[in-house]
Amino acid sequence: MATKQGWDAFAQSAPRPALDQLSRTEMHRLTDEEREDYDEARLVWNANPPAIKTAQLNSAFSVMDQVMASNRRDGDRLRGSVVIDAAPALGKTTIATRFAREFHRKTLRRFGATTGAGHQRLPVAFIPLDAGVTLKGLNQKILAFYGHPGTNRATTARLGALAVDCVRSCETQLIVLDDLHFVDFKHRNGREVSNHLKGLANEMPVTFIYVGVRLAEKRFFDEGLLGEDAAYAQTSRRSTRVPVAPFNHTTDAGARAWSHLLTKLEEHLLLVDSEPGMLMRQAAELHRRTQGHIGSLTNLLDRASYLAITTGVETINPEILSMVTIDNAAETSARTA
Ligand SMILES: Nc1ncnc2c1ncn2[C@@H]1O[C@H](COP(=O)(O)OP(=O)(O)O)[C@@H](O)[C@H]1O
Ligand SMILES: [Mg+2]
Repeated sequence: MATKQGWDAFAQSAPRPALDQLSRTEMHRLTDEEREDYDEARLVWNANPPAIKTAQLNSAFSVMDQVMASNRRDGDRLRGSVVIDAAPALGKTTIATRFAREFHRKTLRRFGATTGAGHQRLPVAFIPLDAGVTLKGLNQKILAFYGHPGTNRATTARLGALAVDCVRSCETQLIVLDDLHFVDFKHRNGREVSNHLKGLANEMPVTFIYVGVRLAEKRFFDEGLLGEDAAYAQTSRRSTRVPVAPFNHTTDAGARAWSHLLTKLEEHLLLVDSEPGMLMRQAAELHRRTQGHIGSLTNLLDRASYLAITTGVETINPEILSMVTIDNAAETSARTA
């Protein structure tokens, strides 16, 4: 998705074509090779549930909609930005990409695929960052997204100007910068990036969605400034923080939201003996194993459904769940829960 072609393909993609649910008898009639292909197709299907409208996703969308309302400001007036700031595997990237995808589709539908000046219209740019990103690296990433050639030789200033050109000519209105925690705002390189981002926000008629882990602790909002100086940080005034919480299982509302998620995931899973309530019945155990982190849950279910298929058990029961090992953070926390 880090190029305009990849992003556009993601944004325009139709839902995955549904796979037939075969009965045990029908499965037994398959040849070995057909069976192998069917199982492989089921594994792919099971591992790719559609994005579910969780309470976290809905509330993040509502904040982003509010911030985007000022995106209608005239070009010379500053727009606000959104910062999706939370621990890993809570669905940050999913929230940002699904929101941006809707925006991309709506804008193309309304205004067409070409700008007034005849350029390709790209309402959204999606820029994932890597470790140790520098100012130059950031501009190169933006240019790489637009498929702009000759980005290796130019100076940092020139690259910045080219990036602004791309954004303007493609009439991009929303830029998602993912994995911003790779920027160290306390370090000079990081402060350069942060200043540059402020500069871009001033120069271009775009709204930024910043996504990362523990950005508040990493001093993103106060731009790495200390003490009294931190009060002068503009980022804090211009950006709206969107936290993403894990699911909790102790309040009524929390338990309802967790059940809703499990029901949606359970409906998606293609196993011969899956049945309504298969996951719901294990809601407490699933919460204990994952601490309500959606990414740990989908990971656990991928592996459980793999084991259910390969062992022939064809359902997710407590025995299958106990066979699964998941990510280190979830395993360590579950042991002490
Ligand atoms: N709304 C959702 N519906 C279904 N699965 C989700 C959703 N949000 C996250 N996931 C699952 O959790 C995994 C981690 O989500 P991701 O958005 O990459 O988290 P983060 O960016 O916070 O690390 C995804 O790969 C996906 O399997
Ligand atoms: Mg992410």
